[in-house]
Amino acid sequence: MPAAERHKGRIVMITGAAKGIGAATARLFAQEGARVVLADIDTVTLAETHAALPGDGHLAIRLDVTSQPDWLDAVAQVGAAFGRLDALVNNAGWGTLRSIFDTTPDQWRQILAINLDSVFLGTTAAMPLLEKSVDAAIVNVASIRSMVAGFGSGPYSAAKAGVEMFSRAAAVECAQTGRKVRVNSIHPGFVDTPLSKAQGDEAREARRRSVPQGRMAEPEEIAAGILFLASREASYVNGAALVVDGAFTAV
Ligand SMILES: NC(=O)c1ccc[n+]([C@@H]2O[C@H](COP(=O)([O-])OP(=O)(O)OC[C@H]3O[C@@H](n4cnc5c(N)ncnc54)[C@H](O)[C@@H]3O)[C@@H](O)[C@H]2O)c1
Repeated sequence: MPAAERHKGRIVMITGAAKGIGAATARLFAQEGARVVLADIDTVTLAETHAALPGDGHLAIRLDVTSQPDWLDAVAQVGAAFGRLDALVNNAGWGTLRSIFDTTPDQWRQILAINLDSVFLGTTAAMPLLEKSVDAAIVNVASIRSMVAGFGSGPYSAAKAGVEMFSRAAAVECAQTGRKVRVNSIHPGFVDTPLSKAQGDEAREARRRSVPQGRMAEPEEIAAGILFLASREASYVNGAALVVDGAFTAV
C-alpha cells in the first residue's frame, strides 16, 4: 500500500493537536487519508490547525487531558460522529526544567497529571470506541527522558517513565484479553517545537550540540514514527518503545 494511503478511512484522535508534534501528526494523518479528531485545551490555535488540515471530515474538540469528565465528553462526541476510533495518540504533555529540590508537591502533581494521568484517562475512556475498530492502536508520546535523566527533568522523567511502562502493561492486558488494540510508546529526543522554544535559545543550543546527529528533530520526523506505529504495517509491533532521537541515547 503506498504510504499516502496507509491511513485512508481511518479515524484517528490526537491530543495536544493544536501545535508542535501533535499538529504535525494531524497534518500527516490527514495527508494519508485519515479523518482526524484534534483535541487540545488551546481552542484558538486548535481552530487554526483544524482549518488548515488537508481533506475534510475532521473534528476539533476542546479537551483538558487531565480531566476525566472532559475525556468522557470528547469520546462521546467521537462516537456520535464516527462510531469508532482506529487510533488514539496521547501526545499532550508538558514539562519545565526545575530541580527536584525546588519542586513543590503541586508542581509535581501538575506534571504527573498532564503527562501520565492523561494517558491512563485517555486509554480507559477511549477503549470502548477502539474496540469497535478491527485494527486499533494507541501511541503514547513519551520522551527520551523516560530513559536518561537530565538536570531539572525529575518530575517529567518520572512521568514519562510511567508512560513507557503503562504502555507495555496496557499492551499485555489488551493482547491477553482479546482486545485488538496495540499499545506502543514513542520517545522523541530534542524536537524543535513551541515547547522547546519556550525553554530559551541557550538551552536549545546546548541540546543541539549534545545530539550526535548535530541538530534537533523537526516535528514531522516524530510524526512519521507515530504514523508507523498506528499503521497496519506495525501489526506485530506491540508493547514497544520507539526511540527517535538522532542517536542521543546511543552514546
Ligand atoms: N519538544 C520536545 O523536544 C519533546 C521531546 C520529547 C517529548 N516531547 C513530548 O511530545 C509531546 C508534544 O510536545 P510538543 O513539543 O509538541 O509540545 P507543544 O507545547 O509544542 O504542544 C503541546 C500541545 O499540548 C497542548 N496541551 C497542554 N496541556 C494540555 C492539556 N492539559 N490538555 C490538552 N492539551 C494540552 C498544548 O496546548 C499544545 O497545543 C509532549 O508529550 C512532550 O512531552 C517533546
